Amino acid sequence: MNDVLYINSRFTTTSERVIGVEDRGFQFGDAVYEVFKFVGKRPVFLADHYQRMERGLREIEIHSPWDEAAFAAIMRELIARTAFDDGIVYIQVSRGEGERAHFYSDDLRPTVVAYTRAVTFPDAAKKERGIRLVTTADLRWKHCDVKSVNLLANVLAKKKAQRAGADEVLLIDGGIVREGASASFFVIRGGGVITHPPDEHILPGIVRDRVLQLVRAAGIPVEERPLRESELFDVDEAFITSTSMSVMPVSAIDGRTMRRGPLTPVLQRLLDEEEARDASP
Ligand code: PDD
Repeated sequence: MNDVLYINSRFTTTSERVIGVEDRGFQFGDAVYEVFKFVGKRPVFLADHYQRMERGLREIEIHSPWDEAAFAAIMRELIARTAFDDGIVYIQVSRGEGERAHFYSDDLRPTVVAYTRAVTFPDAAKKERGIRLVTTADLRWKHCDVKSVNLLANVLAKKKAQRAGADEVLLIDGGIVREGASASFFVIRGGGVITHPPDEHILPGIVRDRVLQLVRAAGIPVEERPLRESELFDVDEAFITSTSMSVMPVSAIDGRTMRRGPLTPVLQRLLDEEEARDASP
């Protein structure tokens, strides 16, 4: 057994088939999810992930299955039962199971699953090399601030990146740069950091928020404003952030090499330190 699955109050493994055919997460994408990492068996930014998930559940009116203490205890037990030390926990809470109908009854019991996956996080060479992006239209729904499992637009966009030999997409919405399919996006220009404001067009990334706190604490100016596509190549540095990538420089967009500079490596180091602090006992 090398992974552990938590399903509706019990532990098993992902080899057990546990979701009913009429689970609303399966049929309607009527569910939210969360992904956090653990390093040396210690969860990173666990409370932040809990709070974002609670907010998402509230937004789509799914009863929360846990309070913060119960959530933390289950996640820590899940990790403790896992054979490996480093990886991610995937959590999904759906509205529950019931005869298929767009209307839902208010007394459904949410289906709760959480499981671990081993992940090798980017090493120093990868963090220095960076990743390539391709731009593509943002075809997602209008509440990207909710971490819903409706990821069809993200999945199709990401396939486009893969076919182009890139690692991630940059989603463009009417000439405005939003974010990646699974990462937040930042640029640096004139010594300041620019990123999209936290509104319904982007996911409020946990790493995004932590990086902005670190940037502000370092006295570096921050502008939270939509970046126009036409500004993309007029920047000094670009990077993305996510739970699995941390801070990752962007080496090229649509095949055009991006400028590299000193600030992204500084932010990589600051975030690594912050993660280590948060993950310490
Ligand atoms: N994705 N934007 C989108 C659209 C995302 O899906 C993600 C995360 C992020 C970064 O968020 P965070 O810093 O909280 O990881 C931004 C997760 C990891 C996923 O879908 O697997």
